[in-house]
Amino acid sequence: MMPTPLLSIENISKSFPGVRALMDVSFAVQAGEVHALVGENGAGKSTLMKILAGVYQPDSGGLHWQGQSIQLRSPADSQRLGISIIYQEFNLLPDLTVAENVLLNREPRTRLGLVDWRALNERTRQLLHDLETDIDPQALVQDLSVAQQQIVEIVKALAIDARLLIMDEPTAALNPTEVGHLFGVIERLKARGSAVIFISHRLDEVFTISDTVTVLKDGQHISTSPAADLTREEVVRRMVGRQLQDIFPPRLQAQGGTPLLEVHGLSNDRLRDINLQLQAGEILGLAGLEGHGQRELARALFGIEPIHRGTVQIDGQRVYLRHPEDAMRQGVAFLSDDRKMEGLALTLGVRENVALPNLNRFSRFMMVQHEDERAVCGQIVETMAVKTPGIEQPVRLLSGGNQQKTVLSKWLISQPRILIFVEPTRGIDVGAKVEIYRLIHQLAHDGAGVLMVSSDLLELLGLSSRVLVLREGAIAAELAGAAATEESVMLAATGVHG
Ligand SMILES: Nc1ncnc2c1ncn2[C@@H]1O[C@H](COP(=O)(O)OP(=O)(O)OP(=O)(O)O)[C@@H](O)[C@H]1O
Ligand SMILES: [Mg+2]
Repeated sequence: MMPTPLLSIENISKSFPGVRALMDVSFAVQAGEVHALVGENGAGKSTLMKILAGVYQPDSGGLHWQGQSIQLRSPADSQRLGISIIYQEFNLLPDLTVAENVLLNREPRTRLGLVDWRALNERTRQLLHDLETDIDPQALVQDLSVAQQQIVEIVKALAIDARLLIMDEPTAALNPTEVGHLFGVIERLKARGSAVIFISHRLDEVFTISDTVTVLKDGQHISTSPAADLTREEVVRRMVGRQLQDIFPPRLQAQGGTPLLEVHGLSNDRLRDINLQLQAGEILGLAGLEGHGQRELARALFGIEPIHRGTVQIDGQRVYLRHPEDAMRQGVAFLSDDRKMEGLALTLGVRENVALPNLNRFSRFMMVQHEDERAVCGQIVETMAVKTPGIEQPVRLLSGGNQQKTVLSKWLISQPRILIFVEPTRGIDVGAKVEIYRLIHQLAHDGAGVLMVSSDLLELLGLSSRVLVLREGAIAAELAGAAATEESVMLAATGVHG
């Protein structure tokens, strides 16, 4: 006989205006297991997790905890049972310190009832130490990178002794070393008898860490099986209902002529003497270990980070990139991995977000032509297959992957000549990834130049015409064609050769 599950999800349904997010979903989670939850963007994963966290109430269906029927009316109810959640979209307060965020509302107190700052920093330092990171507990969250903020989210969830820890795409912003440390923590929780629900679009991670895999598709439960009985191909087939093939379009070659972008001797605090050329029709990949300057280079070329020395030419003309507006005026578009900070106005609708950087295109005699705007936005949202009940839907109500497609849509309308992508498919499912690869490829094929940073090396190699490998802020190698392999990139990135 099977032991009583830690948690049984029974016939849960949940609708939002215009969307049936979950339909009659049932499955069980056992104590001591890592249970992966996978499915395409918009499948309902985060919605189900928010029900377990007491954030949403189901329309129908129920939950059993160790055989007892329970109702979670608020996040406090859920926390009392020992359910802890790492949200997909960060929930940190940017102007507080790391330690304050981690122990918010459960700060250690001195005998006089005051916050015990020393104990607070010490406890946080210990938790950070378990993840082997060097983040300072007293640093302000707003000064941290996306990856560091993700680690703080994780530490915050670990600060409660959870019986069930829910991780909604915890690894999307982490590098392989950080993922390794996180997996170490997951193993320890498991050994203690806690259960972990792990959501990720990276199937290699799913197969590394999980015991059981549940697949959701369009709000419905497709299957729950032991990971050992499954293959990657089978999981993908269940997620998308079709075979995964032809992921990467054929590789493009530069079209020749004056380079679209030319950089000479670019240096700043993080970058050293960068020289590069980007031709029309080319996808230039920037590879390297996290923190070696790829991201900073991309940001400097969009005027987000300062350039201290060196020159930038666009179409053979010297340009000065002091602000993103300078870059946008030169026909440069930027898509980052931080949808909240750099890409989207979350409270505005899909239409407004898509139209925002494109007001010039829609204004005639200073009047915004709403008719045009609506027609073009509607069309692009359809081409991009953004899953939304309508173009007026506030972006914050879309699933993570659909938010990313909205950012892409807004840039596609402005027809930029140079596109800079930083982690363009972060948190995006396989099906949508393939669509985005096709779009990037199409843009380059039509004569744009693409500069791309991605920590997914297969993706970078699959798309790029040429790859520059950065190490310690300098270009360590340029690899093209058959010479660009996972191995050659890693050798250059780690400095093993040369
Ligand atoms: N608060 C909300 N209001 C309206 N619609 C919502 C809300 N939250 C989610 N949805 C919709 O419900 C569906 C399921 O979304 P959910 O965020 O659960 O997907 P997901 O599986 O987590 O996707 P992703 O992998 O992209 O994060 C989507 O169509 C989404 O747009
Ligand atoms: Mg989600």
